[in-house]
Amino acid sequence: MNSRIALLGAAAILAMSLAMAGSAQPAASTAPAPDDAPAKALMTETCTHCHDLDVITSQPRKHAEWPGILDRMKANGAIIPDEDYKVLLDYLGRAYSTDKPQ
Ligand code: HEC
Repeated sequence: MNSRIALLGAAAILAMSLAMAGSAQPAASTAPAPDDAPAKALMTETCTHCHDLDVITSQPRKHAEWPGILDRMKANGAIIPDEDYKVLLDYLGRAYSTDKPQ
């Protein structure tokens, strides 16, 4: 009896961990790859002082548009150190552009 309960418990834990592993997968093919996490965190930190991330991610853009947008955000008052600028530009180009890198 006891071992049967233990078996049921083990099966429940297995089912739960399988469900969790499944939900950890990116939902859509446009989801950033896992190694984008640091750049995404930087973007969230740098770019949400004045507006939501939606403003950045909701509209498809081309690679060539991002430098101009980052420069305009600096003019708007965003503080983007040079090393962050490179990381952000690279990430925006990779994750949120409709065309291939140039
Ligand atoms: C100091 C405030 C501020 C910060 C920080 C900021 N923005 Fe903005 N952002 C604005 C303002 C104001 C607008 C609307 C006016 C404009 O488009 O310049 C805007 C608009 C935008 C737009 C829409 C532009 C368009 O043409 O539709 C994008 C994309 C954008 N921001 C990206 C970013 C990114 C990426 C970052 C982080 C690197 C960032 N913003 C950080 C103030 C900011």
